Formats: sequence, C-alpha cells, structure tokens
Amino acid sequence: MGPALITLHDKAFRPYLSAAEIATAIDQVALRLNADYAGRQPLFVVVLTGGFMFATDLLKRFTGNCEIVFIRVASYEGTGSTGQVQEIMGLREDVQGRDIILIEDIVDTGTTLNHLLPTLRANKPASIEIAAMFFKPASLRYRLDLKYIALEIPNDFVVGYGLDYDGLGRNLPDVYVAA
Ligand code: XMP
Ligand code: MG
Repeated sequence: MGPALITLHDKAFRPYLSAAEIATAIDQVALRLNADYAGRQPLFVVVLTGGFMFATDLLKRFTGNCEIVFIRVASYEGTGSTGQVQEIMGLREDVQGRDIILIEDIVDTGTTLNHLLPTLRANKPASIEIAAMFFKPASLRYRLDLKYIALEIPNDFVVGYGLDYDGLGRNLPDVYVAA
C-alpha cells in the first residue's frame, strides 16, 4: 500500500517529495550561498506568499550578516497561471548598491521574475541573483539566469511546503502532486 493521498478542496494529491529530501536540497543551496556571499551582507528579498517556508529554512542556514525584506505578488488562480502579475506589496528598502538575492517558492513560466527583475534593476543594485526552491524547466517562457535552484521538477502542479491549491496546503512539510 502506497502512502496516503490527501484532499484539498475537490482534488486528490499524492506524496511527491519528503521533508527530508527538501532539507537535503536546501543544505546544498545554503552551502553555495555561504561561500558566494561571505563578507558581503546581502539583502534577501522574499517573494510572498509561497516563499515563506523555503525562506525560513534557507535563511536559518545562512551564516553571514544579511538583511531580509518581503514583497508580495500573485499570478495564479487555481492550478493555472493567469500570465499576469499583480504587485501587491512593493519594495521599500533602498536596493542601490546592494547584493540582492530574490527568494522564490517556485519558478514556473518565469512570468513573476520577468516582471520583478526590471523593477529591481531600475534601482541599481550591485547584483541580483535568484534562489528558488523549485524550478519547472519545461514550463519556462523567459530567458532567466537561475543561479540557486534547490530542486528541478517536472511540469506538474505541486502543493505543500509553502505552495497552495486555492489557499490550502501551504502548511504541509512534504510536497504533493495531483494524483
Ligand atoms: P511563474 O509562472 O510566474 O509562477 O514563474 C510563479 C508563481 O506561480 C505559482 N506556482 C505554483 N503554485 N503549485 C503552486 O502551488 C505549482 O505547481 C506552481 N507553479 C507556479 C507560485 O506562486 C509561484 O511563485
Ligand atoms: Mg501561489
């Protein structure tokens, strides 16, 4: 008998990645960030809502001095991208001359980042890199340099570990895929 299915609203999901597998992948990203940003005091910009859990686990592993701010965007309805990004809560910190690391839950089509990056670049940071928990390479529609990816996944809708299906599932420590 396989592991139990879960139900969120009208949909069944099956286990896909365990909390332990996720933690191992985050360890690897943290090792690289700690080496690359040693002595640089970066500004982490966490993209809410989905990025909250990855950001928490990743930033606890960051050993240098850093600052952390939050922005909020939304582009999804149900399980399909609307293709539009609405900026809900903007960035107020001065990013000029800073080493920025954007923290995202998942890069799917890339629409969100394609919208955010020019806005951030206009404020003349010293550098901008992207850290994402998940990346769906088959779904990407833009040319993006994704330096810190924890896990590449197929083009399936996933929930858990910060990701939601119409508001539910963000609290799950494991990741699930539509059954
Ligand atoms: P784009 O297409 O802009 O997508 O790269 C980024 C945002 O879309 C959401 N997203 C998902 N949410 N399961 C989810 O729960 C998924 O499989 C998924 N794929 C994309 C997410 O909010 C992400 O920040
Ligand atoms: Mg979402």
